[in-house]
Amino acid sequence: MALLDKIEAIKAQMASLQADSEEALEALRIKYLSKKGELTALFAEFKDVPAEQKREMGQRLNELKTLVTERITTLREGVADKQKQSNQVDITRPAYPQYVGTRHPLSVVRRQIIDIFARLGFTLAEGPEVEDDWHVFSALNFAADHPARDMQDTFFIEQNPTDVTRNIVLRSHTSSVQVRTMERAQPPIRIICPGRVFRNEAITARAHCFFHQIEGLYIDKNVSFADLKQVLLHFARELYGPETQIRLRPSYFPFTEPSAEMDVSCMLCGGKGCSFCKHTGWVEILGCGMVDPNVLEACGIDSSVYSGYAFGLGIERITNLKYMVKDLRMFSENDVRFLDEFVSAH
Ligand code: PHE
Repeated sequence: MALLDKIEAIKAQMASLQADSEEALEALRIKYLSKKGELTALFAEFKDVPAEQKREMGQRLNELKTLVTERITTLREGVADKQKQSNQVDITRPAYPQYVGTRHPLSVVRRQIIDIFARLGFTLAEGPEVEDDWHVFSALNFAADHPARDMQDTFFIEQNPTDVTRNIVLRSHTSSVQVRTMERAQPPIRIICPGRVFRNEAITARAHCFFHQIEGLYIDKNVSFADLKQVLLHFARELYGPETQIRLRPSYFPFTEPSAEMDVSCMLCGGKGCSFCKHTGWVEILGCGMVDPNVLEACGIDSSVYSGYAFGLGIERITNLKYMVKDLRMFSENDVRFLDEFVSAH
């Protein structure tokens, strides 16, 4: 076949050339344009073309090469487009279900308690978990030989062999925040102090080496035990319902005088007596009392002018009473199956 016919033959093939993949494109490139390809062969034949035809043939050959190259380029764009389409996101497809976390039950209850007191005008105060002896014990009227200052009850960061007042400890109650606040400000003081506290206890279903407390403190002129009782009654009714009753039993804390423990009427039987309240009709929820004048003086507040009350409760305990969690350890294990049970508790 003459060179011109061969050129025309290849030209004729171009219109119907097809490729639907990278592999097919590569096959076409090899067929026409590679070293052993058909066009290369035609260029090889070119040198035998008689001199007077060389100009025309050369032009035609070059045109053919451009045509083939362009055709393959066009096909390549088609393949790329198709690939892009198949990679495209289907925006009508439903989304993957997304795991939404839940608020921790202790956070839910802490929030509820804070909200109740915030409505009464208490503001939030926080302090460090690593504390010195002064803020945890000394300023709070603990005697130097009080058992809470023993290794059995308190975690020590630094223990001074001769002077207990120079110890550094993990705070065993959030009363330390009350001390810090009283040292900084003069009455009226009305604060609520949530926070984590630490006690050297073996970890069981009923005890843990850390837990959470909320303490309240109110200092002003003429604050009386009656004020304390009324605020706590309001708190109990906000938390457990308007029918709730409270009772105060005399107790002892170094930093309050008089001191009391508060029970609420059993939230399960309403006070009639059931196995939950051990048939007493009452459940203990907090400790409280009038701030001991020694504490006020230690914090720079004139106890002849001011008086105040304080109370403290464990958030775990309140949460247990609400949700009947049987094992305290559940609160700190972060087992999603447990946490998921509080999805609707916000
Ligand atoms: N700080 C006490 C405790 O940890 C609780 C408490 C606070 C009691 C305030 C009375 C007044 O047990």
